[in-house]
Amino acid sequence: MNTDMSEKLAPMRWDGKDLYLLDQRILPHREEWVRVGNAQDCHKAIYDMVVRGAPCIGFSGLWGVVLWLKENKGKGGAALSEAASFLKTARPTAVNLAYEIDELLSYLQAQSQTDNYFEVAEEYTQKRIALAEEQNLAMAKWGIKAIEEDLGKGADLRLMTHCNTGFLACGTIGTALGVISLAAEQSRVKSVWVDETRPYMQGIRLTAYELAKQDIAHKVVVEGAASHLMKNGLVDAILVGADRIVANGDTANKVGTSTLAIVAKHYGVPFYVVAPSSSFDLKTEQGSGIEIELRNEEEILSFKGDRVAPRESSAFNPSFDVTDSSLITGIICEKGIIRPDYVKNIKGLLS
Ligand code: MRU
Repeated sequence: MNTDMSEKLAPMRWDGKDLYLLDQRILPHREEWVRVGNAQDCHKAIYDMVVRGAPCIGFSGLWGVVLWLKENKGKGGAALSEAASFLKTARPTAVNLAYEIDELLSYLQAQSQTDNYFEVAEEYTQKRIALAEEQNLAMAKWGIKAIEEDLGKGADLRLMTHCNTGFLACGTIGTALGVISLAAEQSRVKSVWVDETRPYMQGIRLTAYELAKQDIAHKVVVEGAASHLMKNGLVDAILVGADRIVANGDTANKVGTSTLAIVAKHYGVPFYVVAPSSSFDLKTEQGSGIEIELRNEEEILSFKGDRVAPRESSAFNPSFDVTDSSLITGIICEKGIIRPDYVKNIKGLLS
């Protein structure tokens, strides 16, 4: 894939002392960086969605631990566990946050001494993020294979996606959007339908931004248009990411994903979930066990600070929903394509 692009779209940078996050709240029209100098600010940046997308939430959690160690050199044990637990509370649905932090803590605990924890954690995090690039590329190739298996080798695909799952969400190529980018690079894509993704507008602001930077033809649609598009045969396949995939294949992703999957099933459009193995939570058996983040109602009631709804109105703002595995045509991760029976095949590939 085009590495220049990763430079242009990389959402996080580390200068050896501080973390810099491309402020995703104000994209696409302003590209500004937020400096994050300690674990407390890192937690806030994740919560406020300066940085977002399950993989990047996880990587920011790692940097949060590194930042804590910068200020607490030589410390480990209970104090480190407490800092890690605090970071894990920033956003509850993406399992990547807890997964990445726990992996780092286990790695640190296996070290013989604590006095160089900061350097060890810094190096670990850099290597972990570099590995994600390989994993994302593998996923993109598996994704194209899955589409070929279901739709044949043809070009001119009209693909649809929801939320943002590209460089901005993953720090590298992307998951669902990674498949789309690679397919476009291979001249297989006619156009991409970009779901607007209310209320945070990840589709219209971030996915459209990434597609525009890569010169991939796309059109933004409001979420309510999905049924119209599919009924009229305008969508060949849908690809989305995931914040958590549980043991039976039920998948939490940005609110609106489940509606899209139900409509896709109705019209016979293949529906793929693309996510790294770090987004699987095999300890949870089914989707009802996933905590769904509830965000501030103001995200819905107002737009850019201007009140849209009547003053008297309130709102309910679940940030994610759960797509039943029965609606999913295939789950793609860096290790391969998982088809139903999900309970058996997820276990077979991942454990
Ligand atoms: O609230 P967000 O923007 O963090 O939600 C992001 C999504 O729902 C993505 O689809 C998901 O994290 C997968 S990103 C590869």
